[in-house]
Amino acid sequence: MAMRPYRMQTLAMTIDEKVRKTLAELGVTDPAGVEALFAEVRAAMEEERHGLVSRSAANEAERAKPIKDLRDRWLARKNGILSFIDEDWLKKASKELKPAVGKQFNTLRQAAGRLGIADLLRDFRRDVAVEVTGQQLKLSGGSVTVDLTLPGYRRPSGSLHPVTQMQREIEEIFLNLGFRIESGPEIESVYYNFDALNIPESHPSRDDWDTLYVNSQTVLRTHTSPVQIRAMEKYGAPLYIIIPGKCYRHDNPDASHSPMFHQIEGLAIASDITFADLKGTLDFFARKLFGEKVRTRFQPSFFPFTEPSGEVAISCIFCGGEGCRVCKESGWIEVMGCGMVHPQVLRNGGIDPEKYSGWAFGLGVDRFAMMKYDINDIQLLFQSDARFLEQF
Ligand code: PHE
Repeated sequence: MAMRPYRMQTLAMTIDEKVRKTLAELGVTDPAGVEALFAEVRAAMEEERHGLVSRSAANEAERAKPIKDLRDRWLARKNGILSFIDEDWLKKASKELKPAVGKQFNTLRQAAGRLGIADLLRDFRRDVAVEVTGQQLKLSGGSVTVDLTLPGYRRPSGSLHPVTQMQREIEEIFLNLGFRIESGPEIESVYYNFDALNIPESHPSRDDWDTLYVNSQTVLRTHTSPVQIRAMEKYGAPLYIIIPGKCYRHDNPDASHSPMFHQIEGLAIASDITFADLKGTLDFFARKLFGEKVRTRFQPSFFPFTEPSGEVAISCIFCGGEGCRVCKESGWIEVMGCGMVHPQVLRNGGIDPEKYSGWAFGLGVDRFAMMKYDINDIQLLFQSDARFLEQF
């Protein structure tokens, strides 16, 4: 939507200043501008009203004073904000704009009616003394009759989203191992998302079909790995971090794909870090998360930013490795990519690969949640259907 002209000129003005100018001076020339201007006034009024009723006060007198001030500020016949609007906006409006201004002014006046003492006293947050006699419920301010035999309101309590629960559980394990949590931007430069990670210009993941480009130099990050570089630049070595966050890929939504999903990246850099450290850590992690019986399997794989690279599978948590529908009779479920940080990637992050080495991994949090809670469709996680979410 095009910016309304009056906004540009008057952006820095307060409501008090604006009501002392005419619409022409404010640059409001059409009904849409009038509507926007009045919306701003109503918002300001509502904000002041809200600021007042959400403040607690000890007694009636302490409440009455700010209520009176607020009322006077807006409604006083002389020098009230509405009186200025009447004088400067309505009366001085051009013939064409007058109907629009009149209509908006009426709406505003109605809203301002809620600044009445009685209304505000009612909205004011306060401690009420409650006294129950028979069917009567007495409040300190006055008395209301309530039918105490009616059922009460049920306030459903919310819960953490399963993906959040899973993320926190994974974070907890690594926090206990001495890792820190790091984060980075979801709108990322091509440099951090690809170049600095040693991903060549020709790599298929750079293709429009896999990556959502904001422009030629900016993408929605396709993984959490760019934060590896950002963290190396920021902290240097040694470094022990995990990086949870949202990632985006140009994938059609289906039972196992979502264009937005969650990853957790792990990164450990120190002197003499070896593949054995990686195996040990991930094996420990899997047993903590899924139980002592779970085994891990490492198979060679390829990522441009790790060398060597691996694919980690865990023994199927549903059949214990016997073979079932979930693990497609293989007994194993692939859960993440990992490897030793490529020397060029360390260099790109400003770390000397002669002095330091490191490992990294990346896992899909949504997939972990699906495994843990036995959810068969990733879409369920992002549909905000309370019937699904309340099960967690
Ligand atoms: N970034 C990789 C992906 O999204 C996962 C990964 C992270 C692999 C770290 C190795 C090391 O597929």
